[in-house]
Amino acid sequence: MKHKSQSLWEKPNIENGIEVIDQRKLPFELNPFTIKNLESGCFAIKEMVVRGAPLIGVTAAYTMYFASLSLDANNYHSDLKKTAESIKFCRPTAVNLSWAVNRLMALSTKFNTLYEVQNAFLNDARTILKEDINSCFQIGQHGLNIIKDLYNQLKRPLNILTHCNAGRLACIKYGTATAPMYAAHSLGIPIHIWVDETRPRNQGAKLTAWELKEAGIKHSVITDNSGGYLMQKGYVDLVIVGTDRVAKNGDVANKIGTYLKALAAKEHNIPFYVALPYSTVDWELETGINEIPIENRSRSEVNHMDFFLNGNFFSAPIMDLDSPITNPGFDVTPARFISSFITEYGIFRANPIGLQSLKEHGLS
Ligand code: MRU
Repeated sequence: MKHKSQSLWEKPNIENGIEVIDQRKLPFELNPFTIKNLESGCFAIKEMVVRGAPLIGVTAAYTMYFASLSLDANNYHSDLKKTAESIKFCRPTAVNLSWAVNRLMALSTKFNTLYEVQNAFLNDARTILKEDINSCFQIGQHGLNIIKDLYNQLKRPLNILTHCNAGRLACIKYGTATAPMYAAHSLGIPIHIWVDETRPRNQGAKLTAWELKEAGIKHSVITDNSGGYLMQKGYVDLVIVGTDRVAKNGDVANKIGTYLKALAAKEHNIPFYVALPYSTVDWELETGINEIPIENRSRSEVNHMDFFLNGNFFSAPIMDLDSPITNPGFDVTPARFISSFITEYGIFRANPIGLQSLKEHGLS
């Protein structure tokens, strides 16, 4: 299984589909899941077999390609539009999803036959995959400079806090928030990562901790409520998180709970960085707080927990099932709490000028 190097890869014959790591089973089982048509692609995104903004984008691009294979060559335009809408509908917050689908739809207008469109879709899905690997590598190099500077200043092992999973599982390789950690670790800079467990789905405890263990990076899983205490005690030197969507003013949507960590970091003067590829900026949105769509997720994520016992997965209630529940999947951290953005093009301020400068780099 190619999982050692990537979270998504093509089968030897692409007509048989792509494989992704089934993230619902980690860290207990490491199984591939096959995506080979519209249904399996949408299922994987909706049910969080794949998750994390950049990986959702790459999966969406391949899903567009597989879906295009079953369209009627004489009359494909309207079905292609419907396909694009149904993929975009799978999850609302991560903009990489609509970014990838819109990119392919724009490409489709350049061709006159379905056959040409299919070829273009496959080529572009492959390009998006490669771009993601390169972007995350570059994010790692730029973020490394921040870690190096802090290490040279403090001259002791650094404690870095992260939330959710913005690691290689959320991308193709390296991750966004984790890329600078991997780069620092490979240079021998001593780091220790505080991993927020990230209720309700526990992406931190289940996925980030697994990734860091595989990479041999020291880490400790903490409950979501521990961050403020650890910051107050001086046990956090730096926060790095990922994001699902950034607005033009620098507001950032990320997994629910990110905002609370940003508030606490501000109070304690702890640098709070957000790592992202260019594809995670929504150039249509002026501001984040009222404009970024926030996914409301199911009651069962809160009132049940998943367990793995004696080789079996099962879900069991952890509270009175009559209790009312609200389960927003993301929150928005205002730009003023963010030290800077770490991107593939370098470090940019979290304000309209910083974002404009990032745009100019992205377009050049
Ligand atoms: O609901 P998820 O697990 O898809 O949410 C993922 C996150 O919030 C990540 O932090 C974000 O997508 C950045 S991934 C590089």
